[in-house]
Amino acid sequence: MPRSDPAPHRPAWYFPEYTPVGIDLGSTSAVAAYDRNQGTDPDADDALLDRLEVAEGSHLVDLACGTGSLAVQAARRGAVAHGVDVSEEMLASAQARSERFGVAPHWHHAGFLDYSHSGPLVDVVTTKSALHQLPDFWKQQALLKAAGMLRPGGTFYLWDVIFAFGPTSAEEHLQQWIDTEGRPEGEGFTRADFEAHVRDEFSTYSWIIEGMLQRAGFDIVSSTSPRPTHAEFRCRRR
Ligand SMILES: C[S@@+](CC[C@H](N)C(=O)[O-])C[C@H]1O[C@@H](n2cnc3c(N)ncnc32)[C@H](O)[C@@H]1O
Repeated sequence: MPRSDPAPHRPAWYFPEYTPVGIDLGSTSAVAAYDRNQGTDPDADDALLDRLEVAEGSHLVDLACGTGSLAVQAARRGAVAHGVDVSEEMLASAQARSERFGVAPHWHHAGFLDYSHSGPLVDVVTTKSALHQLPDFWKQQALLKAAGMLRPGGTFYLWDVIFAFGPTSAEEHLQQWIDTEGRPEGEGFTRADFEAHVRDEFSTYSWIIEGMLQRAGFDIVSSTSPRPTHAEFRCRRR
């Protein structure tokens, strides 16, 4: 389903970030199933916020926030939290979550490319499981924008489907990922979902992401690939 685009004034050559790519996670039914499929876990979000030293009074922006768990957990510990997403359905779910917990993060209907942060530079910018929605040229633009909202010394955190294997073994690793991770319909992301991710979305190699992070103005503090298909980067704004 096409999403409503609050910023239709961009040039014709601009990436249409409000048009879903790959698996459409924005439909009402997909949003309803999203937390189960994705394994959304507030405890894991809290553990991440601890690692990123997000505390009362910290300013945090979560880009492509989905159903908003990370921003809600940040707000619950007293942070000034912002969640940004192109999907109004996701944001409605995030809003409902924040009401359940009695907190009020700032929800923004905006994208990686057109979100404009007003207010002071923030301490932490996060994005999980979403940067792969942009082709590489636009990933770089998105990372520049993320750096632009962070104070010097601030933290940028990225978790995504990012390939740590080498190009010569790519097909073998991707097939193994799809064969082992696909779940029956109704029990999680399916084999068809993973196939669509590889075919239609824009996940890329960790060495490409590293170069982009550096060019965006970040020093990489740590990076890990717990699986050959996934990676996290913790960075510091220069
Ligand atoms: C797989 S979900 C991840 C959500 C959340 N970060 C999490 O960890 O559960 C991907 C999210 O990215 C959002 N999205 C896709 N393209 C986007 C863009 N260009 N800017 C902002 N959000 C985007 C989708 O609407 C969706 O909510």
